[in-house]
Amino acid sequence: MSQRLAVVSGGGTGIGAAVARALVEDGCSVLVVGRREEVLTAAAERIGAESGRPEAIRAVTADLTDPDQVVKVVEAVGGRPVDVVVNNAGGYHSADSDTLAGIAANWRATLDTNVLTAVLLTEALRPALRRPGGRVILVSSIAAQRGGGDAYSAAKAALHGWAYSLAAQLGPDQITVNVVSPGYVAETEFFAGRMTPEGHAQRVAATLVGRAGVPDDVAESVRYLASPAAGYVTGQVLGVNGGSVLGR
Ligand SMILES: NC(=O)c1ccc[n+]([C@@H]2O[C@H](COP(=O)([O-])OP(=O)(O)OC[C@H]3O[C@@H](n4cnc5c(N)ncnc54)[C@H](OP(=O)(O)O)[C@@H]3O)[C@@H](O)[C@H]2O)c1
Repeated sequence: MSQRLAVVSGGGTGIGAAVARALVEDGCSVLVVGRREEVLTAAAERIGAESGRPEAIRAVTADLTDPDQVVKVVEAVGGRPVDVVVNNAGGYHSADSDTLAGIAANWRATLDTNVLTAVLLTEALRPALRRPGGRVILVSSIAAQRGGGDAYSAAKAALHGWAYSLAAQLGPDQITVNVVSPGYVAETEFFAGRMTPEGHAQRVAATLVGRAGVPDDVAESVRYLASPAAGYVTGQVLGVNGGSVLGR
């Protein structure tokens, strides 16, 4: 098979950077997408150097909530078939005010960051997805399954319903669509300025394995779902949460 092409949103930091590294190690050519050029470029250079494949990873700067900027990713793909799309970009927005206007602004920002980024990137690349064999992966959150994050929980849960529809639409083309739902993952920018020692300890205590997750825990699950070996797994939600929420 010729070199597989993967697009990883939010690939400059945290879980996305770990996913990008895993896919480069697996021989893919990887485009990492995010808003901050410096962060993305530094991550691409680091991953390329560490993996010994500097030519295999490229940064594309785009705000994926903006349809005009999403087009930059399509241009970077340049007409090649896309084997893997990892929709990992996302994040938590704190509400600035509890007025209705503040609530509306918070929900819109949260839905844009966590849902629209995935929808626009996937729809932009849908015609280019490799048929058969494409892989679409959505990074959700344990908050979708157990609540606790208000708009964030709702936005991540929306990804699950959409994944089921998309899996049905793309299944006949042998393209799989799956959700990876991480629990508490330390060592990323996600909790920047929001985590306390008590909050950390509480989250660790809620796991069955007694530790926080690390980006590689999630990346290894994505690596499997992105692989050619995972062709019979679609429309699934894989919890990577140390047992904090049990599968059903
Ligand atoms: N850490 C956890 O405990 C945890 C738990 C459950 C789920 N998650 C989910 O896992 C995913 C990765 O999070 P993380 O923990 O690795 O945190 P992170 O380091 O903050 O990663 C989020 C990434 O998304 C990118 N991003 C955000 N908005 C974007 C936009 N509009 N357009 C393009 N890129 C955008 C960010 O880059 P720029 O700022 O440069 O755009 C950043 O690289 C997120 O979807 C998060 O909700 C995390």
